[in-house]
Amino acid sequence: MATKELRGVGITGLGMYVPERVMTNDDLAKLVDTNDEWIVTRTGIRERRIAREDQATSDLALPASRQALEIARITPDQIDLIIVATCTGDMAAFPATASLLQEQLGVRRGAAAFDVAAVCSGFVYALDVGAQYVATGRYDKVLVVGAETMSKVLDWSDRATCILFGDGAGAVVLQPAPVGEGILGAVLGSDGSGAALLNIPAGGSRAPLTPVLIEQKRNVVFMKGREVFRFAVEIMGEAAVQALESVGMTPGDVDLFIPHQANTRIIDAAAKRLDLPPEKVFVNVDRYGNTSAASVPMALFEAWQSGRIQPGDVVVTVGFGAGLSWGANVIRWGNVPREGDLRWTG
Ligand code: ACO
Repeated sequence: MATKELRGVGITGLGMYVPERVMTNDDLAKLVDTNDEWIVTRTGIRERRIAREDQATSDLALPASRQALEIARITPDQIDLIIVATCTGDMAAFPATASLLQEQLGVRRGAAAFDVAAVCSGFVYALDVGAQYVATGRYDKVLVVGAETMSKVLDWSDRATCILFGDGAGAVVLQPAPVGEGILGAVLGSDGSGAALLNIPAGGSRAPLTPVLIEQKRNVVFMKGREVFRFAVEIMGEAAVQALESVGMTPGDVDLFIPHQANTRIIDAAAKRLDLPPEKVFVNVDRYGNTSAASVPMALFEAWQSGRIQPGDVVVTVGFGAGLSWGANVIRWGNVPREGDLRWTG
């Protein structure tokens, strides 16, 4: 079979949305035995956004997606494929949140839609998956979203986990680009032997929900924080180096590093391993906490919107999370015009 030449894949639009409600560390100190100083020192988080009771994940994904389409100057009926990376879909098992978003956005019947379940690595995975479809010529316009309502799956009496997470959404549009521009390469990885370190034990087919399991709080986030921390510090640098190597680059070629926003200590350790100065590392975990699959696209959006990413820059995104899972994308930034991006209402 003849091999078809692959196309370049560019990011042509970006969007972001966070719920209006801000929860500060002082607010949390009213719920659990913690304080601002502990949270800031251990995590770098100062506040996070929390979705309203009636807001589901697709409701956050919708404004982020609309903004990304607007910036890409395309209409919903032109979208060929929607991929939503999330671990907090609107419905417990199905349908895919991507299908629900398709309906809300008004994307035509017949466009493809599916979710990617790779937790905090979800967007990095989904970006790579979406890029394959554009590279091969199968689709011309792909919407890739990372969206989460982590606040709905937390134990709000567990100070070790409830302080870490927040809600939000980020979206990008992928379209064909000149070869050598846009998404240049990626690395994805998983180590299922670490599944017990970070999970939601009940509510799936292994342990369908019962009143007893709910009472035992087995339907909310469980985490062995120290072990996840050790894994994260190691994998962040490793994944970035591997992804760069796959396209013949080194950390010295990086203009901006966009790590998963989980904890400033993890980000600082990764930056040190990669020998990157602070001005080459984007951080917004202080304002949003860990928004899981939404963290990388939200950071990408803010980095671009604030002018930290310029055309031609080499951007590396890295995600890690439950699975255990990880991934990194290398992007040579194209020219996404910043005008018309004022509708972010967060
Ligand atoms: N406020 C005050 N004290 C606290 C709090 C809190 N919110 N939480 C824990 N403590 C206490 C503990 O009880 C413990 O007390 P002890 O020494 O008397 O037993 C002490 O603080 C130290 O606890 P550690 O868990 O050892 O603290 P550590 O320095 O490891 O920090 C943290 C905890 C912030 C959770 C860290 O381990 C971490 O960031 N881990 C990575 C987590 C992560 O990134 N997870 C997301 C993965 S992405 C995904 O897929 C969902």
